[in-house]
Amino acid sequence: MLKINNLEKSFGGIIATGNVTLELQKQTINAVIGPNGAGKTTLFNLITGKLKPDTGKVFIENKEITNLDETETTQMGIARAFQITNIFPNLTVYESIKLAILSKHNGLNNMWTRFKDHNVNYEADKIMKLAGLTKSKNIISSELSHGDQKLLDIALALCLKPKLLLLDEPTAGMGPEERWKMIDRIKELWKKTKITILFIEHDMDIVFGIAQKIYVLQQGAILAEGRPKDIKKDQKVIKAYLGGGKK
Ligand SMILES: Nc1ncnc2c1ncn2[C@@H]1O[C@H](COP(=O)(O)OP(=O)(O)O)[C@@H](O)[C@H]1O
Ligand SMILES: [Mg+2]
Repeated sequence: MLKINNLEKSFGGIIATGNVTLELQKQTINAVIGPNGAGKTTLFNLITGKLKPDTGKVFIENKEITNLDETETTQMGIARAFQITNIFPNLTVYESIKLAILSKHNGLNNMWTRFKDHNVNYEADKIMKLAGLTKSKNIISSELSHGDQKLLDIALALCLKPKLLLLDEPTAGMGPEERWKMIDRIKELWKKTKITILFIEHDMDIVFGIAQKIYVLQQGAILAEGRPKDIKKDQKVIKAYLGGGKK
């Protein structure tokens, strides 16, 4: 569904993305891993149109999106979850989600009357449930726990009804227990929606536990790609990333 052909991006002399080609299958969970500075976030920025590539092309469901901006790629079905909760710090979880749903439907004109709309409420309830936020429904966004704020970021992205969900380190800043909870939640919502997911994560165990396909980035280029069990055995990956095969 997402297709990337020979994508390249340099900053000054630094190659952040070096000839990346990949294709995601519909309804799969995919991970991008690689050390700091490997070009993971830049790859997301190129997909969403936050950055323009030097060369190469990006397609979603065979439609080219290479030179579209972020608003346009969102309209094409790409949603990215990252710290959007702080846009509405004083709204509750429920209000934030309803606002995101209304903005997707261009309902901002008569937003306040539509705010009580039965359909909007129904959709918001569904998304809250998917994200595991029902119990936090009436909590003000800025007062949520770190984990729940991340879940709200994901929930707000889901309000856009994306075909492709991009998650940049959804478990960043979490302790081990909280991380696994987050991963279980992502797995669960994927099972229910079968939305195509591409996520960045640097914890190998987490990646092996959830991804169906893994892309290993090193210095902007794809060092290896494949199923978790193949990546674990890949000599290039073991040498470069898993510390000489100790794992
Ligand atoms: N906007 C930018 N301007 C200049 N250099 C950048 C910019 N964004 C990323 N880089 C550089 O590109 C490389 C890849 O960065 P990034 O994609 O953030 O890596 P990762 O997410 O894997 O840690 C790094 O060397 C980084 O310093
Ligand atoms: Mg990054």
